[in-house]
Amino acid sequence: MGHNVLCVDNDSRKITMLSEGKCPIYEPGLEELIQRNMAEKRLNFTSDIARAVAESDVVFIAVPTPPQVDGSVDLSYIEEVSREIAESLTSSCGYKVIVDKSTVPVSTGSKVMQTIKTYASEGVDFDVVSNPEFLREGCAVSDLLHPDRIVIGSDSPRAMKVMKQVYQSFDAPILETDLHSAELIKHAANSFLALKISYINAVSAVCERSGADVELVAAGLGLDKRISSHFLRAGLGYGGSCFPKDVKGFIHISDALGVPFDLLKEVERINQRQMERFLNRIRERLWVLRNKKIAVWGLAFKQNTDDIRESVSIKLCRRMDEEQAIVRAYDPQAAANASRGLADTHVEICRDMYECVRDAEVLVIATEWEEFACADFGRVRELMHLPVIFDGRNLLEAESVVRAGFEYHSVGRRSAYPAKN
Ligand code: UGA
Repeated sequence: MGHNVLCVDNDSRKITMLSEGKCPIYEPGLEELIQRNMAEKRLNFTSDIARAVAESDVVFIAVPTPPQVDGSVDLSYIEEVSREIAESLTSSCGYKVIVDKSTVPVSTGSKVMQTIKTYASEGVDFDVVSNPEFLREGCAVSDLLHPDRIVIGSDSPRAMKVMKQVYQSFDAPILETDLHSAELIKHAANSFLALKISYINAVSAVCERSGADVELVAAGLGLDKRISSHFLRAGLGYGGSCFPKDVKGFIHISDALGVPFDLLKEVERINQRQMERFLNRIRERLWVLRNKKIAVWGLAFKQNTDDIRESVSIKLCRRMDEEQAIVRAYDPQAAANASRGLADTHVEICRDMYECVRDAEVLVIATEWEEFACADFGRVRELMHLPVIFDGRNLLEAESVVRAGFEYHSVGRRSAYPAKN
């Protein structure tokens, strides 16, 4: 967008990698974007927060806000970086807009403001703004560049003006709110999306019992513009670094405010049950899991990312490993992270999707990578010991896998079996 951006991190390994134009995570299109902007001398990296604060008009805070054991949001990184920003601010720095991009509980902005006031020297001139991020991993670049909306929350008209300049070349509606409403929009949006997923997953359970097809039901719901077809894909449940944490966080925030949000507690319960139901169906089919060879395709929490945080697939692998199944797994991008994440289990991570299914008695599809849908199922059939697929993401066409000789089980749809000779 033509701005000069100086990125700061206290992880020097990341700064070194990025300074060499290498992206520390797998995210389609991001490395090219980094390299192009570095070549155009607009994007730089440093470990020196004081320099970054001194040189910038706008300072974005984008640190993690992980969940604590009780589900509340850990704001220690926000507090720490607020202090560091404060200590870097001087009255000769000029006016600064401090923007919170991290997902934080409503009213955190006021605490950031207070912290900066407490630790900065006299006479510093700044405002605090909330500008929640709505991009998704796996399509982050396109989501960032083509957002549905930009939310800017501030109680200062001066800061609002600066922020509108930051976003002036984006073709998206800008919603201007007060500081706290913008913070709340983020938790409310993520929790609503999680609720939609749990809703369709609860419907998928009813479909399985009644013989209805959840894909058709979702299509029928989604055509109603008031409902929309987005985030109505039934599967193993939501994972990742956002929905599980943010639903928990919102429950905790509401409890703390004395207005318990029981609906979201049910959203969480449905999400947990969804994986359990799937595992039960695999167990029912195999009778016992012990010593059964199970191949798992997909370890990332969703397609097009190497992120395994709160991945349902990883949980499933762990559960099957605990029951002494012989689990071998493959993922096109998340293998390295999964090897670390499953290091305390017997799960073997394979380098090749076909090698992974050799001699397996079940193939479980746990992440919706495109390459799984395009696999050569004739070859898979020859390699497997038993031709059984459990598709936890409704990725495959039942007809074509059954034609290839497989027994096919998916979520919220009837199981399909090859014709007996
Ligand atoms: C989510 C939100 O979609 C973003 O808008 C938000 O900015 C982000 O969290 C964040 O707070 O940073 P993300 O977690 O990257 O993005 O990925 P999603 O595409 O939302 O998927 C989350 C989980 O829901 C995945 O496990 C995915 O498989 C699952 N999902 C998604 C379904 O099971 N069904 C669906 O229909 C959609």
